[in-house]
Formats: sequence, structure tokens, C-alpha cells
Amino acid sequence: MQVEKILFETIDSTNKWAKEHLTELKPDTLYVVRAEEQTMGYGRRGHDWISPKGKNLLLTLALLPESPALLTHRMCLSLAKTLEEYSLQPRIKWPNDLFLNGKKIAGVLCEIQNGIAYLGLGLNVNMEKQVDFAATSLLIETGKEFDRDEVEQKIIANFLKTAFEKTPYEERMIFLNQTITIEDEGKWKKGICKGINENGALLLMIGEKTLPVFTGRVLPPSQGGL
Ligand code: BTN
Repeated sequence: MQVEKILFETIDSTNKWAKEHLTELKPDTLYVVRAEEQTMGYGRRGHDWISPKGKNLLLTLALLPESPALLTHRMCLSLAKTLEEYSLQPRIKWPNDLFLNGKKIAGVLCEIQNGIAYLGLGLNVNMEKQVDFAATSLLIETGKEFDRDEVEQKIIANFLKTAFEKTPYEERMIFLNQTITIEDEGKWKKGICKGINENGALLLMIGEKTLPVFTGRVLPPSQGGL
């Protein structure tokens, strides 16, 4: 696989730029769009993605996927493996977040357009201050600055050699076997998180039954909701 890199100092959003400009991809090529700053970075559910200039990693990978399903899971697993190479113990919060020491350190946003996958990811690397009470960075957690180019290289290398697999994903899941609440468009479901199925759906045990949950936001045991 060839890797083609495109770098911006400032852009509205790497996902938006990629969707507008990378509309015909060469086969066997992974395009990596990176920005030092975004003026309109966004995440799932229309949330803003705020990141101070030149501190973190803001990337969009554009590719022609064999199957677009489970790319988010594959990227979360690749990000987790990358942080493990630095002897850290991240946890995946289904379906698209990475946590370190109980706080969010990265988010993944996969958008599919005309058969092309635009896989956006924000990883907080050298940000000194929290932009949100529940967010963190590698610097905040370890007290050390990281080489962002090296981290980016590791993410790409891990992504290229990692396939989605149920067990490695489950082993890294936060709240596994704990009571969680899933909120989806104002509907709430409470149960025990039993992992995921082969399609990447979260398995929620409610009473005797275990249901696959395809979308929604996981609320931790401490925010029972119901
Ligand atoms: C989420 O947590 O909801 C996903 C956040 C994804 C943010 C990244 S930053 C690079 C890329 N460009 C964007 O506008 N969003 C993604």
C-alpha cells in the first residue's frame, strides 16, 4: 500500500477537505491528510472537535475500503495498539473513542461517501491543558512530550497491519462486564456490557436476554441515567 501525505497548517476540517477533494483515489493508496489546526473540526453527533494549534494529531485517512463496516473499530484498535507501544494502557469506549486513565484521549469519525471511506481521528498528544473536563492528552497523563510524527507513523503502520477482530477489541473495552446505559436519540437502555458481536454491535445484557446495540452513546456506570 502506497501512502500519500497532505499537510495543512490551517484548514476548516481535514474530513471536510478530504470529502471535497479526494473524490477519485488511486487503488492501493492510503491518503493521509493532516492539519496543525482546524477552524471547524467536528466529531460524531455534530460535536465540535477543539484542539490547540500544533499540539495534537488531526488526521483523515482516505481509502477505498474492501468493506466500510468496522473501519471505526479497526482504527480504535490501531490507536490502542499504538499507545500500548509506549507502555500505556488505553481503553476503547465503544464504538469510536479511546480513553486513557478514565478520560477521553482520542475520537474517531468514519464518513462514507461514494464508496470512499474518510476516517478522521483526533488524538490529543502534547496539549498541556484540558479543553474539556473529561478530556486528556499523552502529555497530561505522562508528563512527557511525544514526537507527533513518530506517533502518526505508528498509527498508520498499525492501521495497515490491523484487521478488525472481536477478541482484541473486547479485551480493550472500557466498562466490560459493568452496568452501562446506552442513550440513542432520547431512548435509554440499561444493562451489562458483554462485549461486541462479529458485526461490531455492542452486546447489552438486560435481564436474561443479550441484545446487539448498533448505535448510541455509552454512559458509564457512574451515570446510570435511568
Ligand atoms: C468524535 O469523538 O466524535 C470524533 C472526533 C473526530 C475528530 C477528527 S480531528 C480530524 C478529523 N477532522 C475533523 O473535522 N474531525 C476529525
